[in-house]
Amino acid sequence: MSKPRDLSAVASFAQPAEGAQLYAPSAAKNVEAISEVLCAHAPDSGAALEIASGTGQHVATLAMRIPQLHWQPTELDPVRRASIDAYATDINNIAPAVELNATAVGWHTKHQGQALITLANLLHLISEPEARTLIAEAGQALAPQGVLHLYGPFLRDGETTSEGDTSFHAKLQAEDPEVGYKDDWDIIEWIQASGMDLVEVIEMPANNMSFVARRVF
Ligand SMILES: C[S@@+](CC[C@H](N)C(=O)[O-])C[C@H]1O[C@@H](n2cnc3c(N)ncnc32)[C@H](O)[C@@H]1O
Repeated sequence: MSKPRDLSAVASFAQPAEGAQLYAPSAAKNVEAISEVLCAHAPDSGAALEIASGTGQHVATLAMRIPQLHWQPTELDPVRRASIDAYATDINNIAPAVELNATAVGWHTKHQGQALITLANLLHLISEPEARTLIAEAGQALAPQGVLHLYGPFLRDGETTSEGDTSFHAKLQAEDPEVGYKDDWDIIEWIQASGMDLVEVIEMPANNMSFVARRVF
């Protein structure tokens, strides 16, 4: 089973906010663009799983914007799970956050039948084999016709697209040579190898990308 990596020195910054809530400036910046993509692709009903929910800022907004889905946030870090629950107070379509190591083989058995699975900003913090495992597990956790959304920074055809991205990718690899930005073509291949069709690839603000896929059967 894959052991989670600690890259907190170079990524995943969040600061204390009100009560148990943490505040990630990056999540506040990208939540509008992410919710626009998800509003356009969300199924009409069912269960939604968020992988690596972080502070909970995303799921709190998504659950309000997409009220027809019942949201299950997940996160490795217990302090972040408490933050997610603090953001979810008074939002009745969010379940309490549960622990999920998304790079562990077999997690899909506990999270079957998802209408939607979304993940933001984790694939660059794990290795390629771990990213493949995560995508394969997500494919198996989806219900037939279920939708997978992946968001974050990626290489385009092997290249970074800005100085900031080149420097962040290098910083990640200096900290842990196995991690770093994944290539957009690899993501598409791993999606298709996991029994999903690619629905849309979207250029997002600040050089990020969204991939939307659908489980075939
Ligand atoms: C950069 S943060 C992104 C958080 C949130 N999705 C966002 O975009 O604001 C990465 C998150 O992934 C979590 N994480 C790291 N390794 C993980 C793993 N193997 N499985 C699940 N979550 C993981 C960290 O605890 C952290 O909250």
